[in-house]
Amino acid sequence: MATVLDYATYDKGRHQLALGIRAIPVAEWIEPDDRTVHQLAEKRRLLAERHSEVFHALPGSEAAQAECLTCLRANLAEHHPNHPGLILSEAGRSPLDLAGRMVQEDLLLMERQEAGWVLIAASLCFPARWRLSDKIGRPMAGIHDPVPGFNDKLARPVDRFFDRVAPDQPYLRANWSVIDDATLFQPTGHGRGFHDASITPDNAADRLHIRVERQTFVSLPDSGVLVFGIKTIVDPITILGRRPDLAASLAATIWDMPDDMARYKSMAPFRDALLGYLERLSS
Ligand code: HEM
Repeated sequence: MATVLDYATYDKGRHQLALGIRAIPVAEWIEPDDRTVHQLAEKRRLLAERHSEVFHALPGSEAAQAECLTCLRANLAEHHPNHPGLILSEAGRSPLDLAGRMVQEDLLLMERQEAGWVLIAASLCFPARWRLSDKIGRPMAGIHDPVPGFNDKLARPVDRFFDRVAPDQPYLRANWSVIDDATLFQPTGHGRGFHDASITPDNAADRLHIRVERQTFVSLPDSGVLVFGIKTIVDPITILGRRPDLAASLAATIWDMPDDMARYKSMAPFRDALLGYLERLSS
């Protein structure tokens, strides 16, 4: 079973703003797991009830959307022939909307334009505290404006990396956060600076969760558009009980994290309670 422990990029015990990418086999672009069926149902619900918030495609993105759908179908047929997404076929939807319903990964299309790599279309049902409407049509620097340090340290390396991604060579990186709300669709909530006294080391086990994004990057051979995939995994913080070493690394990473980043990641409401709980797990 895939868990957040598979993507514990805090394992060094240091906070770092890093590219953190590695090449993966084509067979691992899409990673089905025991949450697939549940997440596909949740996507269908969100796409039915709040379509304009979770799907957006700019005019002109149609060819790249179709190419993404074709590549996804071919990849599933070859590497995951029993994937439930393969039996989906619904006429009348735009190709990226259909592709997004096939896999638990959210799918975002980035196109190289004069301004840099720009978000031109997305099926985004599980946003980690951001709104698609704020980001569509914007380049990477604009998209990451709220992330402390991103534009100084990462904007150029990320653009250079995207320029080099070759078709047939997917890449992977992961992002983590500790959250006090396990909901998959979370369009708001970054930057909370207040203290929530109701979360304590004693009840942190019930109140806190780890949320990981397994992020993939795949270049479409014809259009050169980049498919940014985000698979979201949420587990109760208690899962760290299996790995006291990772509980200790997470605590060290949080100690090491600059205040602006801790605030951005909305850890302030429960930072002390979390550290108290992690200390118990790791000792
Ligand atoms: C190698 C590529 C990338 C890197 C290194 C990167 C890095 C980051 C980092 C460090 C954060 C802060 C997350 C946190 O710690 O909680 C972030 C947030 C975010 N990233 Fe990326 N990212 C990459 C690709 C992308 C792409 C392709 C998109 C396309 C839409 C994207 C959209 C976002 C958004 C929307 C946020 C939240 C921003 C907000 O709070 O408004 N990222 N990214």
